[in-house]
Amino acid sequence: MNPLMKSMLTPIARINILSFFIISYFIITVVPGYGQDKTSTLKQTPEELAIEKKIDYLLGQMTLEEKAGQLTQYSGNDTVTGPLKFVSTQVEDIKKGLAGSILNVVGTENTRELQELAMENSRLKIPLIFGLDVIHGYKTLFPIPLAEAASWDLAAIEQSARVAAIEASSAGINWTFAPMVDIARDPRWGRVMEGAGEDPYFGSLVAAARVRGFQGSNLANKNSIVACAKHFAGYGAVEAGREYNTVDISRRVMNEIYLRPFKATVEAGVGTFMNAFNEFEGIPATANSYLLRDKLKGEWNFNGFVVADWNSIGELVINGLANDEKDAAQMAIKAGNDMDMVTGAYRKYLVELVKTGKVDIKLVDDAVRRVLRIKYRLGLFDNPYKNCDAALENQMLLHPAHIVAAREMARKSIVLLKNQEHILPLSLNIKKIAVIGPLADSRDDILGFWSAQGEGKDAVTVLEGIRDAVSPSTEVLYAKGCNIDDQLSPVYDEAIAVALQADVVVLAIGENREMSGEASSRAFISIPGRQEELLDNLLKTGKPIVVLLMNGRPLAIPGLVSKAPALLETWFLGSQAGNAIADVLFGKYNPAGKLTMSFPFAVGQVPVYYNHKNTGRPEMPNSDRWISHYLDIPNEPLFPFGFGLSYTTFEYSNLKLNKATMKMDDSISVSITVRNTGKYDGEEVVQLYVRDLVGSVTRPVKELKGFKKVMIKAGESLDISFTLKAPDMAFFTKDMTYKAEPGDFKVFVGTNSVDCKEAVFSLTE
Ligand code: NOJ
Repeated sequence: MNPLMKSMLTPIARINILSFFIISYFIITVVPGYGQDKTSTLKQTPEELAIEKKIDYLLGQMTLEEKAGQLTQYSGNDTVTGPLKFVSTQVEDIKKGLAGSILNVVGTENTRELQELAMENSRLKIPLIFGLDVIHGYKTLFPIPLAEAASWDLAAIEQSARVAAIEASSAGINWTFAPMVDIARDPRWGRVMEGAGEDPYFGSLVAAARVRGFQGSNLANKNSIVACAKHFAGYGAVEAGREYNTVDISRRVMNEIYLRPFKATVEAGVGTFMNAFNEFEGIPATANSYLLRDKLKGEWNFNGFVVADWNSIGELVINGLANDEKDAAQMAIKAGNDMDMVTGAYRKYLVELVKTGKVDIKLVDDAVRRVLRIKYRLGLFDNPYKNCDAALENQMLLHPAHIVAAREMARKSIVLLKNQEHILPLSLNIKKIAVIGPLADSRDDILGFWSAQGEGKDAVTVLEGIRDAVSPSTEVLYAKGCNIDDQLSPVYDEAIAVALQADVVVLAIGENREMSGEASSRAFISIPGRQEELLDNLLKTGKPIVVLLMNGRPLAIPGLVSKAPALLETWFLGSQAGNAIADVLFGKYNPAGKLTMSFPFAVGQVPVYYNHKNTGRPEMPNSDRWISHYLDIPNEPLFPFGFGLSYTTFEYSNLKLNKATMKMDDSISVSITVRNTGKYDGEEVVQLYVRDLVGSVTRPVKELKGFKKVMIKAGESLDISFTLKAPDMAFFTKDMTYKAEPGDFKVFVGTNSVDCKEAVFSLTE
């Protein structure tokens, strides 16, 4: 805790919190709501009804100032995730019941101390809710979300979020600012590492899995934390991939692409949302009532609360929408932001805004109700210290079971991009291996951005993982070779000398952890510094080389891809990175990951994504020059969505539909035979895509509609089948109704979004 807050922790009169509840009684009243709030659509369970009654009572007791305070979130200093503001008055406010939430304070000791301030001093004893960016683990770190997505394993992704929740909840945290469900088509944007990639269907499934994982079966469980779907909405479309930049997309694209995963989180029962820094239709998301009121709280009936991202309310002034912070507070509450993260504008101005009639008290009551609702659901009123058990914290952080799960998830996240002449897997009995590269023994970088309380000292580096895996007779040599972003010509002598002695070289190169994540956009999305030059020099030794890529985004590296004999995309895999990479290098685990975001050929191709429109002049075999193409690079990405190899090979055959025509209320069965034609048992992600050939608006050339991850033994075949129904073909039609239109469709089944077998069917009324 910061020294200022510590110094203000004076002895506090302990008030028996039970006495508050004993004198309480719950008045049955009509639940006040506002505007689009469909409180009446809450599940009418006795528990939910009881919560609403308790909230009615509390709202009746709260002063306007306490209500504004309840909507205020302060940041501690344990981790800092934005330019800091508003520190000096926070402790006093907590004591007076004028703060609703704290972010960036971690650990049972610190959170208990602050919770005690609230519970023992404030008039109404409303517990604080503690939030943190628990993005891919708390202490045991899992792969970055983009890497986990490459596993196409929803159960494993859910389990990863579950472990994160178990650890974070044991350490005082009630609320994570995750999952980030922004669809991302621009790899220059550093935050692509936090999401599931470019596809709205797949992104929706991952988003829901993460929500289930964080929240568990019941928010009241001790090891559940409430999830937060962010950033609502359209943040993934920042112009030129530059962080915090403006967005200009159509309402159609917003609905069809960017909003879908958010809707999926509401359906999965997510408790909170976070707004976005960008604008939509000229109105910053913070002031955008189409997004927050019409869509989220209206059409989707979301009954949790919305937190306004870090100072985004204050930024309405800089955006040029609000005259001053007071004006900004008015706009933000009206648009539907329930809690103000660190701006302090609600705390400062809401009382006056209500008193002067500028803001309807019903708006404030609705926002407070939503915040209290989540606190009740979390069970914080029953036990404000439910997540402040030091013994449990001790037991849960880095629990052996979590480490096992992290290794498993890390292996599943690795994507084999190239394996010329079957260099991989390596034999465990190689005499000498040279492990080279600036990332080969880096324990901090492999954790990736947003590493919560994860520490490099608990991580396994590639060098350590390899040393641990090989037989005792294998000698493992190491040389760093160069730094990640050396600009001056480095000396590679030591690395070359080491390589010359070895039978095989494993070269770990890529980005450092700060090159992706928040505020980490890059214009040149190649391998930084002189690392590729290091590879060039090593290639001259004639030794077999396996390149391990570590990065938080798709990279544009055509040269490197053509040069490297074997290439594994290992992202930032978290605490168990080194062990997981060794498992794959030596064939203990056959890689099965598939990219969920296209790797561009060059930055000039960005945005490049598989579900694009056809244009009127698509590139075709033998087309002339008057077509939609580049003169200097191909249209196709370097690696397409869904791409990933295995140590074995799969052959697809016998694509069959059980009928040629299907009615709107009918279904069609799509089946295919997949044969493992290689020498290893292996998993394959069988992917199903559809194209609506003619629509009332133009449709993408392919859209993912299903997938199955299956294990097939070497030499064996498996019949895979999918069922398609008319709603699977639904989209926002010309008049923006969401439905399927009759017509002809192509169906594709294959190993990635390009290499597929095709068939056709018709959908009729
Ligand atoms: C700003 C980021 O945009 C958001 O994703 C994060 O949750 C908050 N800071 C809190 O750290």
